[in-house]
Amino acid sequence: MNTVRGRYADSGSSSEVPMNWNKWIRQTHRWLSMAFTVAVIVNIVAIAQKKYTTSVGLLAVFPLALQFFTGLYLFALPYATKWRSGRGTD
Ligand code: HEM
Repeated sequence: MNTVRGRYADSGSSSEVPMNWNKWIRQTHRWLSMAFTVAVIVNIVAIAQKKYTTSVGLLAVFPLALQFFTGLYLFALPYATKWRSGRGTD
């Protein structure tokens, strides 16, 4: 349905990357950052109360791992857009 293309939905760029997928990854990265932040706070509280366990630690590792992969994707996006648009004026 949505035929908007480019790095951002409203950029009007002529990239060949469909927008929905990029937007979905960016949104996921954004929400994961909140989950990760909450998990870090839970970790700090657990340590302060001397109730730290491995599962409390993994609570932060899991969203961080997902952040890493969605983050790598976001990092590669502008380069992928350039590669796809050809060699430019050369
Ligand atoms: C683990 C490795 C991570 C990598 C490789 C990574 C990479 C990236 C990249 C490339 C972007 C896009 C920047 C742009 O606009 O061009 C981004 C956006 C962002 N990152 Fe990460 N990130 C990582 C972890 C985190 C963490 C730990 C947080 C916060 C707890 C975070 C929060 C955000 C937020 C809020 C944005 C803006 C998202 C938006 O556009 O709404 N990231 N990240």
